[in-house]
Amino acid sequence: DTPDNHVPRDPRLIRLTGVHPFNVEPPLTTLFKEGFLTSPELFYVRNHGPVPRVRDEDIPTWELSIEGLVENPITLDFRQILQEFDQITAPITLVCAGNRRKEQNQVRKSKGFSWGAAGLSTALFTGPMMRDVIKRAKPMRRAKYVCMEGADKLPNGYYGTSVKLNWVMDPNRGIMLAHKMNGEDLRPDHGRPLRAVVPGQIGGRSVKWLTKLILTDAPSDNWYHIYDNRVLPTMVSPEQSAKEPKWWYDDRYAIYDLNVNSAVVHPQHDEVLRPAKAGPTATYTAQGYAYAGGGRRINRVEISLDKGKSWRLANIEYPEDKYREYESDLFGGKVDMFWRETCFCWCFWNLEIPIPDLTDSDAILLRAMDEALSIQPRDMYWSVLGMMNNPWFRVAIIKDG
Ligand code: MTE
Repeated sequence: DTPDNHVPRDPRLIRLTGVHPFNVEPPLTTLFKEGFLTSPELFYVRNHGPVPRVRDEDIPTWELSIEGLVENPITLDFRQILQEFDQITAPITLVCAGNRRKEQNQVRKSKGFSWGAAGLSTALFTGPMMRDVIKRAKPMRRAKYVCMEGADKLPNGYYGTSVKLNWVMDPNRGIMLAHKMNGEDLRPDHGRPLRAVVPGQIGGRSVKWLTKLILTDAPSDNWYHIYDNRVLPTMVSPEQSAKEPKWWYDDRYAIYDLNVNSAVVHPQHDEVLRPAKAGPTATYTAQGYAYAGGGRRINRVEISLDKGKSWRLANIEYPEDKYREYESDLFGGKVDMFWRETCFCWCFWNLEIPIPDLTDSDAILLRAMDEALSIQPRDMYWSVLGMMNNPWFRVAIIKDG
């Protein structure tokens, strides 16, 4: 018996922690097979505690307050959020800062559970821009941050975090409130009835079951903003970080934008390489995904079969570009990506490799680069929370017999 008995869940999801709270990723190959958009029932879940119980009849009166450094503090109910603001629909990939943490834990145990490479998912989110909602409360000049709070009650208070107000006010950053995913009402695990969506930043900033926006002149002092979603300097040990709060209170170590990252989905570690056709010209099509943060586009994906001495250039597809052209309704909302230059979604890469090249090699190495020319590093940067792990992705090739 758990506090989440009311929440329906898909048995294909892989549990990463015990029975409660619910933290899951889909099998990587299943996620990939879904294609660009992830079905809501397969979307990864990161919950710090129990999912708030919200009855259908209570949704119209769900309240969001906008307070703090505003001239006109207001409380909006769910109906007003739907009816009184322009609604946009856009594809956005959410990524947990812990994606690929398992590799860090294999090197040295961090203070986090072991995500594989499927701690990310993509949906068409629908709702108003957060800036429109905040403007109505008339921010004061002193206001610099937007603190958000959710309704999930946790051991250290409600879940909360903050982002900069100037990011929220910049329409090209796409920071929005969402009540729908792929045209259906949000599911309980994903913030039903209302969440924040902060594109291009780690999932931890996209507060679910959103109840409060508080404008302040300093970053959030919520426990989860301070003690979660940080990359502390590598020499800080778990013991030291527990004894010395100074490491946590340094906002330079907080994570906002995602870093550049990629993964091989095919071949899997244990996959038997089946060529499209037999013979000396037989090839295998390697495939996977890549993403970057802050709206930056992935500009190359490279594969090495000789420990990084030489690299081959993979083909890249950017399915999100297709959505920039939509003018008609899709899933009951106008797809409106007025952030035309920015990329807030994963992209897919593929490369045909002659089978002998693969069987002669001992591992496939993969790395991506983004528009800022940030490239995935060869070496891991271990840190106490095991977050933002993005070294070259490696799949060993195991020879028969
Ligand atoms: N919001 C609330 N209220 N409570 C939470 O536990 N987890 C955060 C974020 N928002 C969390 C939250 C984290 S760490 C991530 S990665 C994303 O939600 C995950 O969103 P998802 O479960 O919809 O995939």
